Amino acid sequence: MSENIFHAPDKFRENAWVKSMDEYKAMYKKSVEDPEGFWGEIAETFYWEKKWDKVRDFNYSMSKGPVFLEWFKNAKTNITYNCLDRHLDTRGDQAALIWEGNSPDEDMVITYRDLHEKVCRFANALKKSGVGKGDRVAIYLPMIPELAIAMMACARIGAVHSIVFGGFSSEALANRIMDSLCKVLVTSDGVMRGAKSIPLKGNADKALKMCADLGHSVGTCFVVNRTGSDVNMVENRDVWWHEAAQAQSAECPVEWMDAEDPLFILYTSGSTGTPKGVQHNVGGYMVYTGTTFKYVFDYHEGDVYWCTADIGWVTGHSYIVYGPLSQGATSIIFEGIPSYPDPGRFWATVDKWKVNQFYTAPTAIRSLMAQGEKWVEQYDLSSLRVLGSVGEPINPEAWQWYHKYVGKEQCPIVDTWWQTETGGIMISALPYAIDQKPGSATLPFFSVQPVVLSEEGKELTGACEGILAIKEPWPGQMRTVYNSHDRFEMTYFQMFDGYYFAGDGCRRDEDGYIWITGRVDDVINVSGHRMSTAEVESALGSHVNVAEAAVIGFPHDIKGQGIYAFVTLNMGVSPSDELMADLKKHVRTEIGPIATPDIINFASDLPKTRSGKIMRRILRKIATDEYDQLGDLSTLSDPDVVGTLINSHKVLM
Ligand code: WT7
Repeated sequence: MSENIFHAPDKFRENAWVKSMDEYKAMYKKSVEDPEGFWGEIAETFYWEKKWDKVRDFNYSMSKGPVFLEWFKNAKTNITYNCLDRHLDTRGDQAALIWEGNSPDEDMVITYRDLHEKVCRFANALKKSGVGKGDRVAIYLPMIPELAIAMMACARIGAVHSIVFGGFSSEALANRIMDSLCKVLVTSDGVMRGAKSIPLKGNADKALKMCADLGHSVGTCFVVNRTGSDVNMVENRDVWWHEAAQAQSAECPVEWMDAEDPLFILYTSGSTGTPKGVQHNVGGYMVYTGTTFKYVFDYHEGDVYWCTADIGWVTGHSYIVYGPLSQGATSIIFEGIPSYPDPGRFWATVDKWKVNQFYTAPTAIRSLMAQGEKWVEQYDLSSLRVLGSVGEPINPEAWQWYHKYVGKEQCPIVDTWWQTETGGIMISALPYAIDQKPGSATLPFFSVQPVVLSEEGKELTGACEGILAIKEPWPGQMRTVYNSHDRFEMTYFQMFDGYYFAGDGCRRDEDGYIWITGRVDDVINVSGHRMSTAEVESALGSHVNVAEAAVIGFPHDIKGQGIYAFVTLNMGVSPSDELMADLKKHVRTEIGPIATPDIINFASDLPKTRSGKIMRRILRKIATDEYDQLGDLSTLSDPDVVGTLINSHKVLM
């Protein structure tokens, strides 16, 4: 085993925030024994207009009363004051954001002073359009600086942003706008993707029409001019961003927010129902993202940091915008894709900006690994100090490749386990303190107390395997599901009284290291994108020709998981290649391209219990060719369907 443990080289250890396992253990111990003291001390490094009365208060146990959690009670602050204003004197001329465009010859450096001004101008434009504290603003933008500017403009005036990933369809956008009744939408004319420009405003128009039909009119739609494509500007509703912002003052005083006022809503998929609006509040989220950023990436003054995620996901919220900027870092926003103009783009960009910390997803590593080392070897990557991974377990093969070819065996790799709900990183190595084992997220961050539970909810000890849950809150934890506190309690606290139920399974080894084994619910993870099988099923089910659909995840070399749909058709409809293509298109329209099924198996029937419940266990075994492990079929209402499904599966593969 020992050859599979990686100990970071000593070169940067001297300067690291945490230098050894002993130091980590001492800090961890303090953080668990006295979380209020620990976080109170750290919170002092942020700016507060008014300090808290109490660091933490919570109830995690539904049997004792409503679940709640509060951090920094009665304190007042503003996250943009911490991300912008307080840096102006010391680093006003330092790059806050570096924008690397889709095309390698398009880029832009935005200093803290510039960013402050841009945020203020747009904040004033929002105010002018009637947005105030507590109002929701939907943001549907590609990876351009305006995305970060729009979110901070909201935060500055106390509006709650709800970012909808630019790859989602108009339907998905409309549902999210409706759920939180957003007053304003911010979008762009189009998106640049590789060699193509894709329209976005058309989707926004459709979504706003759907909302209006449901009785909700969005007052103003700000449109960023990104691609210069023709768009339809609706009178008295649509406004060009540049015109609106330019007309405003470059000063906008911050709204002092209660630490427990909402900062943003971000929708994510669970095992059932429609996506949930995960709500994060100002104070705890600010402290947690800034602090995890500093320690996990061992960020130091002057470092250039790059996270390749989209700001439309939580990774981008926490580790492109808020975490790095609250620490005064230089953070790169990358508009492009790893394969454009060629598979060397990531490494060319690291070389170009002399990136020190690089954070990406296993799916990106696997797809680049498949293109060969020659794309990496052309560039000087010697600026790199820490590499990060997020979104799904990283398979040891991809880990080794990342370590060898990108990190030149000099860079520790932090495999960071966390979720939209957790706000920030929960389990991860600290690069110079915690030795790494490829495939393991390693050990918990300060004050995070993971436990491994049995199905019955018993805490397992020592080396074991079970369900991952967390005991006691951390500052970055979500506070509620927007407009549905019941759903918050049911989803995360009902299963095991007194614990936060994460939805993942895990194994803990003899060194206490955590190995995430994947979701234990019906959530699938496709290229790091989280999806519920139920959502894809209901999209398929809404097609006129579909009687029923059952969707499962199956192992996929690049994506981690692919989407496998078993579909039965309405009476009189026959399967065909055209219908298959049409169903895929239908899912794209209903949800977005990321939800497109990889495989559609047209079935005459689905395996069901006598009470009519689809037996997904059997479908999973068919999808992975494990026909000999189908288990007991005697409870099926019609055991013969299994053979038919296996035959059609074999034809497809
Ligand atoms: C789910 C959360 C956290 C930001 C991106 C995803 C899986 C995430 C890891 C990791 C193993 C991971 C889990 C988790 N996941 N990171 N390092 N190792 N699994 O956020 O969309 O809320 O998805 O992603 O299954 O529950 P998300």
